[in-house]
This record gives sequence, C-alpha cells and structure tokens, in this order.
Amino acid sequence: MMSLYQCLLAVLCCAACARAHWFHPAATAGRAAATTRVETSANYWVQDAQAAIDARLAQVESVKKARNVIMFLGDGMSVPTLAAARTLLGQRQGNTGEETKLHFETFPTIGLVKTYCVDAQIADSACTATAYLCGVKNNYGAIGVDATVRRGDCQTASNTATHVESIAEWALADGRDVGIVTTTRITHASPAGTFAKTANRTWENDGEVSQMGLNAKDCPDIAHQLVHHHPGNKFKVIFGGGKRAFLPNTEQDEKGSYGRRLDNRNLIKEWENDKVSRNVSHQYVWNREQLMSLNDDLPEYMLGLFESSHMTYHMKSDPQSEPTLAELTELAIRSLRRNEKGFFLFVEGGRIDHAHHDNLVELALDETLEMDKAVATATQLLSEDDSLIVVTADHAHVMTFNGYSNRGRDILGPSRDVDLDNVPYMTLTYANGPGFRSHVNDIRPDVTAESNYRSLDWESHVDVPLEDETHGGDDVAVFARGPRHSMFTGLYEQSQLPHLMAYAACIGPGRHACVSAAHLPTAHFFIALFALFTPILLK
Ligand SMILES: *[C@@H]1O[C@H](CO)[C@@H](O)[C@H](O)[C@H]1NC(C)=O
Ligand SMILES: *[C@@H]1O[C@H](CO)[C@@H](O)[C@H](O)[C@H]1NC(C)=O
Ligand SMILES: [Zn+2]
Repeated sequence: MMSLYQCLLAVLCCAACARAHWFHPAATAGRAAATTRVETSANYWVQDAQAAIDARLAQVESVKKARNVIMFLGDGMSVPTLAAARTLLGQRQGNTGEETKLHFETFPTIGLVKTYCVDAQIADSACTATAYLCGVKNNYGAIGVDATVRRGDCQTASNTATHVESIAEWALADGRDVGIVTTTRITHASPAGTFAKTANRTWENDGEVSQMGLNAKDCPDIAHQLVHHHPGNKFKVIFGGGKRAFLPNTEQDEKGSYGRRLDNRNLIKEWENDKVSRNVSHQYVWNREQLMSLNDDLPEYMLGLFESSHMTYHMKSDPQSEPTLAELTELAIRSLRRNEKGFFLFVEGGRIDHAHHDNLVELALDETLEMDKAVATATQLLSEDDSLIVVTADHAHVMTFNGYSNRGRDILGPSRDVDLDNVPYMTLTYANGPGFRSHVNDIRPDVTAESNYRSLDWESHVDVPLEDETHGGDDVAVFARGPRHSMFTGLYEQSQLPHLMAYAACIGPGRHACVSAAHLPTAHFFIALFALFTPILLK
C-alpha cells in the first residue's frame, strides 16, 4: 500500500517532471529535430540520460550461437588513448570533440581487464597475447606456452606439454575458418598469439634463434611456424607486414629490402608450394592494387605481406601502395564468411603502441581512429544476431590527458594551465620516453613554444628520459557487441577473454552457451539413469 507520504512524493515528482517537460512530446520532437546541442540547458542532459535508459531497455541480446567472432586488438590502446582519440575525431569534424563517440564506444557492453602477467606487473604484448588468445596467463616475452616457460628457455618450450591452444585452434577444430590481419609484422607478438608457441617473441626468423646457439629444430622461428605448423598453415587470410622474416638475407623483396633468414629459405614460395600441393586456390600479394584485384574472385587462401617490417603509419603511408586496416578487414571478412560454419578473425591496430613508445601522440591517436574505422566496416558487414565483435587492448601506456583546459581546446596543443614556474605544458604528455628535454637552470623548457608541435614527428615532453616510452600497468577496456555480449561486463582477468568468446561461439574445450544436438542424447541418458535409480535411492 502506498503511504500518504509516498503518494504526495509521487504527485510532487510528476509536477516537477511536467514542469521540466521530461515527457512532453513536443520537447522530445524538438530535440530530435535540433542539430545543435544545448548543453547549457539542464533539460538537454536529462533527456540525454532518459534516451540512454530507453535505448538500454529496448536492447535485445542475441542468444544465438556466435557463428563468427572478430577480435579487434588495439595494441597499447589505453583508456586515456580512447578519450584523446575521440576528442581528436570530433575536433577533426569541427566540433569541440569531447562529446564524440568512437564507433566501438557505442557497443552495448563494456568491461575492464587486468593485464599483468605471471612474472610481470606491467605486461608486454607476448604474455598478453597468450592471455587474450589462449586463455592462460604466462611469462613476459613468451607466446603460446604456459608459465613454466621463462623467456628464452627454448628447452622447456620444446616440450609440447607446455603449449597452450589458441581460440584460432578451437575455431579450426569446429570446422570454422581463421584469418589474421595486422598493421605490424605478421610475426610480431600479438598476431603470433593466434598460432605460435615460443619462449621468446623476438625469434621471428631463424637467424634470431641460431645466433643464440639454439637449434631451430627445437625452437622453430615464428615465420616458419606460421607457414608450416598447425594452426598457421590452415589460416585462410594472413595480412600484415614483416616480409623480411620470410626471405633469405641474400634476397631482396619487391621494394628492395633484404630478408633476414640465414637458412636460405623463401617461406613465401614455401607457402605457395604448400597450397599447390594441397590443390587449393591461393594468392600472395604485396601491394594494395593486387589486393583489391582479388575482390572479383577471392582465392581460398590469401597471404598479403605489404612491408619488409611494420606497415607504414596511416598518416604517413601512400594510400595507393598500402591498404588501410579497414580495407584489409573488409577483404578478410568477405573471404572468411564463405564458410557456413563461421570464422574467427583477429584484427590488430598494432602501431598505436609504436607511436606511443616514440611519444608521437598524434600518430597513436590516428592509428586508434584507423582501427575504429575497421570496426565500423565489420559492423556493417556482419549482423549482431550471429556475429560477436570484441574490441580491446593488450596493455596500457603512460600517456596522460592532463591539466584544466577549457572545453574544445586543441587536444594536441598546450593546456590552458601553466606550471609552478609559469611554464606552459601540453594537454597530452607522457610520464616517460625519448621526448625528454633537459632543464635549464632547473626550469623545464617551454615545449609549447616549439613551433613544430603539430608536426607528426614532434615528440611530446616527458618526465623520465628513456629510449622508449613504456607500457602502463592500468586496466584496459573491452567492448562487446553480438551474441552474449553481456558476458563481457565486469572487471576480470584478461585470460578470461577467449573463454568468453568461445562460450558465445560454442567452440573449444570449455563451457558453451549452446547445447548442440550432439550433446542431447547424452543429457537424455543421464536423465534416464537418474529416473532409474531414484526409486532405489528413495528406499
Ligand atoms: C630473446 O631473443 C633475442 C634474440 O632474438 C635475444 O637478444 C634475447 O636475449 C633473448 N631473450 C632471452 C631472455 O633469452
Ligand atoms: C584440383 O582442384 C580442381 C578444382 O577444385 C579439380 O578440378 C582438380 O581435379 C584437382 N586436382 C587434383 C589433382 O586433385
Ligand atoms: Zn609496446
């Protein structure tokens, strides 16, 4: 029963609502029609919140099997990177910026993951790749092996009992197809997490292994594993950079760069020969034009290696010669979705990390926006009903979004504030890295007076001088859309991610969201058994 007090409260509230026009149809229509935001009106924010509640209530989560799973990995894409990137995006569009949303920031579920590794408080891309692709935390620098393997311990890693399977293997075992796409070398730590088992992430070619006095038979290099071992040799799409790990050091690639292999093997030819011997259609490409020409008649297997090392930063690349991450993603999806059982695709925006390491903040933000475009492409091509898309990062960085700047201030420019010596500072700065400037008479130099601070090669200023800016130990965000997306909410270990994806996709050895028809007879058997014994147990 409603008390008189509650009743009174309800009446008062309704009166207040009416006065604020919360539910006034005209007010709602007016807002929908308006193109400018009226942030000075309290009503604007109230309506914004009410619309968000309505959107949440209207949401229907698909409980269908996730036939397709795409994992987007922004290497080093920390939470401050997201806030700064969305602001840059908005400012590029002529707005104040802060209010902008990246495409994947509209996904219905967001979580946080803890990125530490078994022997490391602050992670690298190798142990984190093992966590978010194989579902097991391990040691810094090692990929696809458990934590009994310390970095560089070839002998322990040569024991297959230390190897852990990736979600790519779980997908293949279920008859689905697999692809990997990255802007880094394809043998780099993150993509290698889908296929490689190695004690040392830098063993990308055989020379790195043999120079340490180790036998390549015990510790095969990462490029070799991709071409000749399960599961890499079954990947239908392989797009990225890193050609040098595939070619002999005596041989030049199409652009004149020498390979790095000491065993005189050409793994690109060996990849082609393997597909010929299996009589499957295949194509190797090394530039954008060749890649785009595949669109008309997609071969079953595609290997695209577009640079000797990493692909060029988007803002510095020649769009005619190098494809964008969105273009690579689109072609990968068009290829993989031909499998009716579905696919697993790993897409990495890998150079966010590199730009941060060099304190090149605009490039880090732009690479984030490039990955966001790739996510948008994927959402256009795949339905929320049967395709799970997860966007996350491997670890954070030490870029800070700091000061007390006014709304809409240039995200790449000086803060409105000055320090204790009256010296201005930038809104985006780093705790450490190569951008250190020596102090003069104990006073920090004014970097905002450097006229080239908007150039792409300008290093932001830092507190601690280091050759390379470091990773951060803070949590990274997870965005999910598609079947069972709400499973990705909360704060949890990064190693749970592939288990959650596998649950939604019903692949792998763990729990599955769907009980397949094949499992039903087993369930019936146990029910029958239970029925048979219940009378006896009750006696
Ligand atoms: C990993 O391999 C590189 C060579 O590729 C070597 O310089 C480094 O010392 C190795 N790390 C360990 C811990 O063995
Ligand atoms: C190779 O595949 C083609 C097309 O699928 C088929 O016509 C041909 O018979 C196959 N060749 C062999 C040797 O299996
Ligand atoms: Zn890094």
